[in-house]
Amino acid sequence: MKKIYVSAHYPGDSLERLRKKYDVLEFEGERLPNREELLEGSRGSSAVITTVSDSIDKEFIDLLPELEIVSNCGVGYENIDVGYATENGVMVTNTPDVLTETTADLAWALMISVARRVIEADAYVREGKFRNWHPSLLMGHNIHGKTLGVFGMGRIGTAVARRGKGFNMRVIYNSRSRNEEAEKETGASYADFPRLLEKSDFIIITSPLNEGTRGRFGTDEFRAMKPTSIIVNIGRGPIIKERELAAALRDGLIWGAGLDVYEKEPDVDPELLKLQNTLLLPHIGSASRETRESMFDMAVQSVERALEGKTPEHLVNPEVAGERN
Ligand code: 8YV
Repeated sequence: MKKIYVSAHYPGDSLERLRKKYDVLEFEGERLPNREELLEGSRGSSAVITTVSDSIDKEFIDLLPELEIVSNCGVGYENIDVGYATENGVMVTNTPDVLTETTADLAWALMISVARRVIEADAYVREGKFRNWHPSLLMGHNIHGKTLGVFGMGRIGTAVARRGKGFNMRVIYNSRSRNEEAEKETGASYADFPRLLEKSDFIIITSPLNEGTRGRFGTDEFRAMKPTSIIVNIGRGPIIKERELAAALRDGLIWGAGLDVYEKEPDVDPELLKLQNTLLLPHIGSASRETRESMFDMAVQSVERALEGKTPEHLVNPEVAGERN
């Protein structure tokens, strides 16, 4: 019987489908496996269902000669050495689409909460500081009518931009290439990178991590932004140079930040922890029950198809499917 290793426990009952046909080992509990546990647990597997925290590198792939598929439960897959997987005939899949709207919702939660100082205001009340109302109490910034700048106009960027219409915002975006379909759908217009920095009141980073986006936002970029602007990152942490962001926020180069992802996750730069104009979340972009169930169901479907000799949907290295046919 083929073995399947699942590196985390997910809600829903999709795993039961696999249990009926395969020998399934699930890493149970509230945390994820460390490197040793991952290597040990997945030994002998034909399929693994992984998270972004599992590094699927050469060592991992070499240790699993039976491996047919790495089904990553997440849309980003920079944790996987796709080139090496392809060389070894291992399929790699991800879970796009199902998490788009949920992740876009969280971008907006961050935008609104930072602009209107929602978390600070809640703490103010709980700490018993709300003794008198005052006209300048916890003043923030408007969202409606402002300029929303989307960095990375893919599926999630488009969903973020679409919400901007409801807030009567002007939407601009910068992306690797123009996305005319998204422009039609959301009314967004393309801006080159310097213009995005200069014109945006809110910059929302939704792009994946790649050599073009790594370290894209640092001191020079913050200096080019409006001092009243807010930056939100729901893409990947290393797109922002975290230490430089902390300094920019401290020195008032920009007004606020909302982060769901970090440069060295799960560590957060201690300088950021000291700041009040920064809202920090533990990578919960897609963390609604419904979406987590859908993501996992999609990851399970990919494994089912692969082990039945079919080509899974959302294959990120279709060259491998070619070899199988
Ligand atoms: C996941 C994400 O929760 O899909 C992604 O790329 O960042 C999150 O939605 C995470 O990747 C878990 O693997």
